[in-house]
Amino acid sequence: ALYFYHVLTAILIANRGEIACRVMRTAKKMGVKSVAVYSEADRNSMHVAMADEAYCIGPAPSQQSYLAMEKIMQVAKVSAAQAIHPGYGFLSENTEFAELCKQEGIIFIGPPSSAIRDMGIKSTSKAIMSAAGVPVVEGYHGEDQSDECLKEHAKRIGYPVMIKAVRGGGGKGMRIAHSEKEFLDQLESARREAKKSFNDDAVLIEKFVDNPRHVEVQVFGDQHGNAVYLFERDCSVQRRHQKIIEEAPGPGINPEVRRRLGEAAVKAAKAVNYVGAGNALLLNTSGTVEFIMDSKHNFYFMEMNTRLQVEHPVTEMITGTDLVEWQLRVAAGEKIPLMQEDIVLQGHAFEARIYAEDPNNNFMPGAGPLLHLTTPPPDSFTRIETGVRQGDEVSVHYDPMIAKLVVWAEDRQAALRKLRYSLHQYNIVGLSTNIDFLLSLSGHPQFEAGNVHTNFIPQHHDELFPTKKATPHEVMCQAALGLILKEKMLTDAFRDQSDDKFSPFASSTGRRINICYTRKLSLLDGENIVDVAVSYNQEGSYKMQIQDETFLISGEIFNEGDSVYLRSSVNGTVSHMSLFLFLSVGMQSGAVAPMTGTVEKVFVKAGDKVKIGDPLMVMIAMKMEHTIRAPKAGVIKKVNFQEGAQANRHAPLVEFVDEEAESK
Ligand SMILES: *[C@@H]1O[C@H](CO)[C@@H](O)[C@H](O)[C@H]1NC(C)=O
Repeated sequence: ALYFYHVLTAILIANRGEIACRVMRTAKKMGVKSVAVYSEADRNSMHVAMADEAYCIGPAPSQQSYLAMEKIMQVAKVSAAQAIHPGYGFLSENTEFAELCKQEGIIFIGPPSSAIRDMGIKSTSKAIMSAAGVPVVEGYHGEDQSDECLKEHAKRIGYPVMIKAVRGGGGKGMRIAHSEKEFLDQLESARREAKKSFNDDAVLIEKFVDNPRHVEVQVFGDQHGNAVYLFERDCSVQRRHQKIIEEAPGPGINPEVRRRLGEAAVKAAKAVNYVGAGNALLLNTSGTVEFIMDSKHNFYFMEMNTRLQVEHPVTEMITGTDLVEWQLRVAAGEKIPLMQEDIVLQGHAFEARIYAEDPNNNFMPGAGPLLHLTTPPPDSFTRIETGVRQGDEVSVHYDPMIAKLVVWAEDRQAALRKLRYSLHQYNIVGLSTNIDFLLSLSGHPQFEAGNVHTNFIPQHHDELFPTKKATPHEVMCQAALGLILKEKMLTDAFRDQSDDKFSPFASSTGRRINICYTRKLSLLDGENIVDVAVSYNQEGSYKMQIQDETFLISGEIFNEGDSVYLRSSVNGTVSHMSLFLFLSVGMQSGAVAPMTGTVEKVFVKAGDKVKIGDPLMVMIAMKMEHTIRAPKAGVIKKVNFQEGAQANRHAPLVEFVDEEAESK
């Protein structure tokens, strides 16, 4: 311990958000100065406020800030930091950066660059594991990347197969092909994402295991040749290959399987040592060995990550450890604080990731201000890992995670109860979140029973998304409300200049209204005209009648960022929708950008004839691909954006030749 305090007095955290705050908390506890770096977009963020020193390193895009190695290195020198903690993502598994740290005599809190290289290149890591006797899944990891060769191997392995970026991680560049028919499409999509994310489009093919569980083991190594495991986490419940709820230990896993998992993981960690002998190559940091597990609890090595994982807190909760403290001690040359036999599993922990996203819209990520934020009160069994506060903004430039809610209790059932109780206490206003979805998920009987697998969300889709579809009449009521409120908004803007007409629909308060006034609106539903009789209730709601059905409606228009939304309540059922998209249905003359992003690929040009649903473009927004499809059949008049261009939300991407002009 003396050695440690002698060496480390200041560390630089090359990250942002919750993980930067998490690392700083431990640094403060240990009396180590925290140095933050930040982009211009993060100037007022929580991790900057929390740090002892903070340095701006560039504009919002990560390439110019959080990935700018030289700038970060310069800050390390200026601030006299002896070590750099990379967190997860960004530079955490970047060989070049680890190498740069070594050259500059700064401790990289992570493994040596050679270990990152071997573990980061998945095809190599499988070969190493196979040789070390760790079970692996059948696949093709060859050099020949031709379509024919890859297709042939996919056929040999047997569909369904998984296509994965060789340098991939976090679900990037990963696609499933269920049959030979869709293989080439999925291959091209995987390559495109791989090229974009890793600048390398090499892929590998693997057998896709049905109903698999994602079980990962936390390991830890030091420079003295010690390696221990801290039991497994189950991270099976995922959407788009990204984790939502993690837990430790894995439900239903018996102590014998647990021991075999742990031992296989340590074997995997030690296997790294056999490569490039000579240097201190043991995993001298936190590592995670990921396994795929079938229903009979057979497990196979998938990959190993040499960084602190997002979900590390559940392991800390069941082992009573502080893994960041371990990392700092081990980086300074100390031994792992506990021997294997001293690491005891206690109780059960869950982590739920709270995202700014819309689960009902295919988990479309969101961004915007946190107008109001209340969380469950943190205590020693409830942790709120976050990098944002009330009033902060969830930025379009980075991951839309708002917080991780981590709970612990003496057993799984009690921990699950606590998770749900705490989720109910979370209250976020200003943007859509997945909190309601997390409640449906954690309350699902199959989740309660511990029957988790990576296909959980698609399999239980209907129960998890119970939002009953609005009936056609309810949709008409929402449309009528949208029109009335929009009209009211415009009228209010001119109230001062104009003579107020005697219309309750033009009044923002309704204070002058005490007679019953009914207005008839005629709306178009497809081919049919629907009459809606609207009357205004004194307390600000509306009564709407369509044929013999009556509805009680209330709502408002609000701005979120640069968009206008309609919040409506139809007989108590509340929904939110983009007013722009909503009111433009039918008047749309082309395709619009669903959110701000970059045009990745353009499939059409002026003069092309398209059918409804044909792909027009691929956009990348919030690190995800969105295919823009033709909203109607027609002829393309103009493509407004070229590949590589940035398009703002709701920007018209493609214009259609209008039908009259066409028929002339
Ligand atoms: C909506 O609520 C009103 C008032 O409670 C009720 O009279 C009406 O029948 C409800 N409409 C429908 C379609 O359920």
